[in-house]
Amino acid sequence: MLCQAVHLGQSRPFAARVCQPSRAVRVSARASRGTRPEYIPNRIDDPNYVRIFDTTLRDGEQSPGATLTSKEKMEIARQLVKLGVDVIEAGFPMASQDDFEAVRAIAMEIGNNVDSTGYAPAICGLSRSREPDIERAWEAVRHARHPRVHIFLATSPIHMEHKLRMSRDQVLRQAVESVAFCRALGCPDVEFSPEDATRSEPAFLYEVLREVIRAGATTINIPDTTGWALPHEYGAFIADLRRNVEGAEGVVFSTHCQNDLGLSTANSLAGAQGGARQLECTINGIGERAGNASLEEVVMAIALRGADQLGGLRTGIDAVHLAPTSKMVSDYSGMPVQPHKAIVGANAFAHESGIHQDGMLKSRDTYEIMTPESIGLARAQGVGLVLGKHSGRHALATRLKELGFADLPSERVNDIFRRFKDLADKKKNIADDDLLALVQDEVHQPTAIWQLQDLQVVCGSMGLPTATVKLLGPDGIHRVAVGMGTGPVDAAYKAIDSLVRIPVDLVDYGMTSVTGGIEALATTRVIIRPAGELASTGTKQDYKGRQQQRTFSGQGAHEDVVVSSARAYISALNRMIPYISAQAHAATAAVDNARSAETATATVVV
Ligand code: KIV
Repeated sequence: MLCQAVHLGQSRPFAARVCQPSRAVRVSARASRGTRPEYIPNRIDDPNYVRIFDTTLRDGEQSPGATLTSKEKMEIARQLVKLGVDVIEAGFPMASQDDFEAVRAIAMEIGNNVDSTGYAPAICGLSRSREPDIERAWEAVRHARHPRVHIFLATSPIHMEHKLRMSRDQVLRQAVESVAFCRALGCPDVEFSPEDATRSEPAFLYEVLREVIRAGATTINIPDTTGWALPHEYGAFIADLRRNVEGAEGVVFSTHCQNDLGLSTANSLAGAQGGARQLECTINGIGERAGNASLEEVVMAIALRGADQLGGLRTGIDAVHLAPTSKMVSDYSGMPVQPHKAIVGANAFAHESGIHQDGMLKSRDTYEIMTPESIGLARAQGVGLVLGKHSGRHALATRLKELGFADLPSERVNDIFRRFKDLADKKKNIADDDLLALVQDEVHQPTAIWQLQDLQVVCGSMGLPTATVKLLGPDGIHRVAVGMGTGPVDAAYKAIDSLVRIPVDLVDYGMTSVTGGIEALATTRVIIRPAGELASTGTKQDYKGRQQQRTFSGQGAHEDVVVSSARAYISALNRMIPYISAQAHAATAAVDNARSAETATATVVV
């Protein structure tokens, strides 16, 4: 066996060995989970336990096109609880009323859902280092059992000079005052992030961190905001801060690694080796620009190599929920997972070459370091079920369960079964990917406001492409419209627009064939945004103070490419409509408030 001695990290001299993974290393992620230490904001009473802080709903939602509805955020939060994440960063409450409400709802429901072991995730709201933001974030999370506010302020020369236009003294004072203010509001758990920490001067950072710890910070997060650091550097940086910041022993250090150089997972693990005991990450690694550390990669690296290479590190994550969570986040955010993505990509467990297949047949250990089952996937051939037109509801439900969809309500399974039967009439064998596309089309959908009933197109090289659509509206009435366009999809979208009557811009449109063959299912993904007089209702302020136009994604799947496209478009509209109605409602309420304030003033004057 090839074994080579290497030293990783600076603070803890691990005499690590790189070995072929043995059977003993291939422990299931669940087996390495163990008990979860009691949640105490500023310390963890097990030196090997690493908190997983999920920021899919905050940093992840920052990805272009990834707007999530409040209902979707809640469902993702429920899934994060199944995974067992320690902290959910539920959003940036100051961004908009909608974001505030979503964080508050998650804090109230998910943050109080205590299981039999006493576990309930801490619910965190992000805040700039300003009193109104901090009050808003605290208001949003305060009803959780473990509420947390995460305050950030940049400390690098480049950010202080060009973005904040503040001196070091001003930054130091503002950071301290913000943390103290948050504690004075009654918040027991305050995380502080010196934004762009990895490009900050260490001596200044020691001073800022010492003072925010004195002011009451419980977690110190070290963001590699631009994804600049290399793993050995980042691990050494965390270790250096832990050694040199006065009061460091009384707080939990945390990593937050952006992926601009593709190093976010490696950096997070190096940070843990440097002594960080909270790792911030997102499902599928979604996030600003090139994204964030991917939760599934970080967690599986610790599950598989924590014992032998990371000094015994472990997390509280139940990895069997990884695959369904990844699928849910990808469907809701409209951000597909690349096929070769580690852990959750479609090819992560596919063995194409003859040599690999031969090895796999002799022993799975030859080319697999973890089993698909350990992340919530099952092999079709392992079960021996091939689904086709004679398969019944039970066989379908079993396969869905094996694919990670164990908790689908029976009416959802019925809907999928109906679609499955239609497809099986046209296609001999139904592959797992077909089923996943149907789940996406039937389950991971927004509440149906408009529903496609029928569609017919006339197209070709003679004459104008024309589409006739029949929709069921929110009032329960069927309406029919005809549209003409440059092609059949354009014609169908025009017909839908003439019924829904909400101005939108189509930002992106893409179609993929799920499996090969002429009878394959086509999945369509579209991204739209409010247009015309509604354009401004779609904007929100992100945590960097930028005005962002919200975009909404939708997916559809069908054997007919135009029907698939129409379903995707309606799905995106159904995601957008509640959002703009809520905005319009808030605007009307604001005008009404202003009017009653005017009346009140007038009364006083009189
Ligand atoms: O990337 C970053 O610096 C952040 C902070 C707000 C933690 O997202």
